[in-house]
Amino acid sequence: MTYLRNVWYVAGFADELAPGQLLARTLLDEPLVFFRQPDGHAVALHDRCPHRFAPLSAGTLCDGGAAVQCPYHGLRFDGTGACVHNPHGSGAIPKAAAVKRWTLTERDGLLWLWAGDAAGADESLIPDFSAVTRAPADATIRGYLPTACDYRLLADNIMDLTHADFLHAGSLGSGAITRAKAQVDDMGERSVRITWLSSGDRAPAAFDEQLREQGRPTDQWTEVTWTAPCAMLLRVGATLQGEPRERGVATTNLHLATPETTGRTHYWYWSTRDFAVSPHANAAIRPVIEFAFSQQDKPMLEAQQRRIGLAEFWSLKPVLLASDAGAVRARRKLDALIAAEGANA
Ligand code: FES
Ligand SMILES: [Fe+2]
Repeated sequence: MTYLRNVWYVAGFADELAPGQLLARTLLDEPLVFFRQPDGHAVALHDRCPHRFAPLSAGTLCDGGAAVQCPYHGLRFDGTGACVHNPHGSGAIPKAAAVKRWTLTERDGLLWLWAGDAAGADESLIPDFSAVTRAPADATIRGYLPTACDYRLLADNIMDLTHADFLHAGSLGSGAITRAKAQVDDMGERSVRITWLSSGDRAPAAFDEQLREQGRPTDQWTEVTWTAPCAMLLRVGATLQGEPRERGVATTNLHLATPETTGRTHYWYWSTRDFAVSPHANAAIRPVIEFAFSQQDKPMLEAQQRRIGLAEFWSLKPVLLASDAGAVRARRKLDALIAAEGANA
C-alpha cells in the first residue's frame, strides 16, 4: 500500500512504552522495536537484526538500557541503530551492521513516528492535542483497539457521526445529529473540520443524564477536526436549550488511527470530559464507551472491510450522502497529499 510519508503517525500512548522494556509494533508494514534510552528518550528501530534477521524485539535491553542485544548471536545496537558490540571473532564491527533508526518524538502523551526522511521531520506538523492531557485522570478513558480494517474507514467513521444515531442509538446517539446540517471547513491542505449544531432535541442518554435537568430540549454541538493521515480531535457537548455552553457538559476526545499493515489498523481513543469527575463516575462511564467502540464501531469497521475485500474504495462507487461531506473531503485531501509525494518522488 502507498502511505503518506512526510507526516507524523501516532505510534502509541507514551506510557505504553515503559522504561526498561522492548515494545514490538508494526506500523506501515514496517516491523519496529521501541524502547527508552536511559534518559527516558523513546527510540524506534527497524525490528530486524542485519545478521540473520532475527527480531530485535525478542532480545534484551543491555548496557544500562542504552542498547538492545539480538537474541540470536548477541550483536548489540544502540538507540541510533549503530552496532556497538560484536561478541564474535576480533570483535570488529562490520560496516553493514546497523539497523535503521526511525524518527520518533513524544508529544501530548503520545508517541509520534515520522514516516519520511529524517531530514524532513517537521514537528510543527504534529497536531495540538494538549487539550486531552489537561483533563484529570478521573475524567479520562483511553483505549487501544487493533482493528482489521483500512485506517481510512476509521476516519470515515468519525467524520460522519450520524452513525451514532443508528449504531449507538440509546447511548451516544439521539437522532439530533442526523437532522442537523453539517458545516465543513477547510483547515489547510492537511486538515478538515466538520461541525454539527442542533437546537431543541433531547441530548443523547450519556449526556442527558449529566445535565441539570433530564429530558429537556438542548442545544448540542459536535465538532471533528481531522488531520492527515488519520488523527481526529472530537468535541461534543450539550446544554439546556438557550443556556450558555459553559453551563452544559462537554467532552474532548481523540480518535487516532495508524495503519499496521494493509487491512489492519491500530486504533487509539482518548476520551475526556468536563463533568462527572470522580473514580466512581469514570467506572460507570467506561463500560458505555468501551461497549460503543469495541462492540459496535470495531465490529462494523471489520464487517465493512470484509465486504470491501481488497477492492479500492472509490472503485466500488460508494453512494454519497449529505453526511459524507467531511469524510469525503478528508479522503480527497489524503489522496492529493499521497499523489503529490508520488509526483515528487
Ligand atoms: S541474527 Fe542477530 S546476531 Fe545473528
Ligand atoms: Fe461510533
